Amino acid sequence: MTWDLLLTDCRAATMADSSQPYGAIDDAAIALNGGKIAWIGPRRELPSQQATETVRLGGRWVSPGLVDCHTHLVYGGDRAAEFEQRLKGTTYEEIAKAGGGIASTVKATRAAGIDELVASAGKRLQELTAEGVTTIEIKSGYGLDLDNERKQLLAARRLGEMHPVTVRTTCLAAHALPPEFTGDSDGYIARVCDQILPAMACESLADAVDAFCEKIAFTPAQTRKVFETAKRLGLPVKLHAEQLSDQGGTQLASAFGALSCDHLEFVSDDGIAAMAKAGVVAVLLPGAFYALRETKLPPIDGFRKAGVPIAISTDHNPGTSPTLSLLLMLSMATTFFRLTPEEALQGATRHAAKALGLAASHGQLQPGMAADLAIWSIERPAELSYWFGGNPCAGIIQNGSWVKRCA
Ligand code: NIG
Ligand code: FE
Repeated sequence: MTWDLLLTDCRAATMADSSQPYGAIDDAAIALNGGKIAWIGPRRELPSQQATETVRLGGRWVSPGLVDCHTHLVYGGDRAAEFEQRLKGTTYEEIAKAGGGIASTVKATRAAGIDELVASAGKRLQELTAEGVTTIEIKSGYGLDLDNERKQLLAARRLGEMHPVTVRTTCLAAHALPPEFTGDSDGYIARVCDQILPAMACESLADAVDAFCEKIAFTPAQTRKVFETAKRLGLPVKLHAEQLSDQGGTQLASAFGALSCDHLEFVSDDGIAAMAKAGVVAVLLPGAFYALRETKLPPIDGFRKAGVPIAISTDHNPGTSPTLSLLLMLSMATTFFRLTPEEALQGATRHAAKALGLAASHGQLQPGMAADLAIWSIERPAELSYWFGGNPCAGIIQNGSWVKRCA
């Protein structure tokens, strides 16, 4: 048998269980075949086997392709004007209550055609993937009716076909109350459960179901209805939980075996315990923390002590996290949240894959896993959270094929 591609003269941050930080292998060799990792280990142990192509990486570091596990990448318009309002002192909640915020993006998204959404999100996707992102989650949640939620998810699927990246879609119809349901949030949740989610499941447009459980969004009782529907449809759930206040959404999501709870600045000790018991990933979103000038830190030590895996993501969205850099999020996760650089990289690889239900196939350099690799011009992995601005990504391989060849 002949391997498709053999990489040598590199150092590997496998992120697999190991006695070495980062699961590191010095002087590694990595063989890829059929879109999967066929062999990885110290070069001296490499079996003698032919490869169609062999590339020496000049001592560069190789990590799993990065996984951005929480984004709202597909939307119309932007919210730069709201940003200016917030700089003058209006809060995110006040803007939302006055009909701005998410509602203004809903208006712009409804007005946009699918081609326009694919084009604008495609540009943003190129920025993200240039930093070695090979898997991304994309949520709906700016359509808020059947046709427009469907349009967003179709756009997300199309992005996955057009770009060298694995796209996982999440239906976030329970993101905000659409204007036609003002004063009737129970009525909208019934619409989500009776019409929108079943239709998305029927067309296989959603890989998971999310909701926003918050004072300015939906109650735990309403969130429960969404989760019950998801369960009936056989879809895993995740939750925007305890971002602005403690609603107990984390306990609810854990009871439904959620893949992840996301944001979590206001999560309680009980919430952490529930997540630990159910194996739920804590997805932290330092971009939203930064843009909202949040001062309450997510309880990192609580997660560590309880053994809750921590993931880091961009939460790319036009309102609270208009960032196009997952590496910048690693920097913020270390500087704001005091994660170690190793925890931060785990958060954008192995734990992020787990938050998408892809723990068995993505996020680590292990035989049998997807041949998604990022190649870095760095001397030590800590540099991935040390630099902010600039892009040390020298090469990218997705599904065994070169996306970017090393110069
Ligand atoms: O993840 N928290 C709610 N949803 C988004 C914000 C969406 C928006 O403001 O448009 C978030 O931060
Ligand atoms: Fe979000």
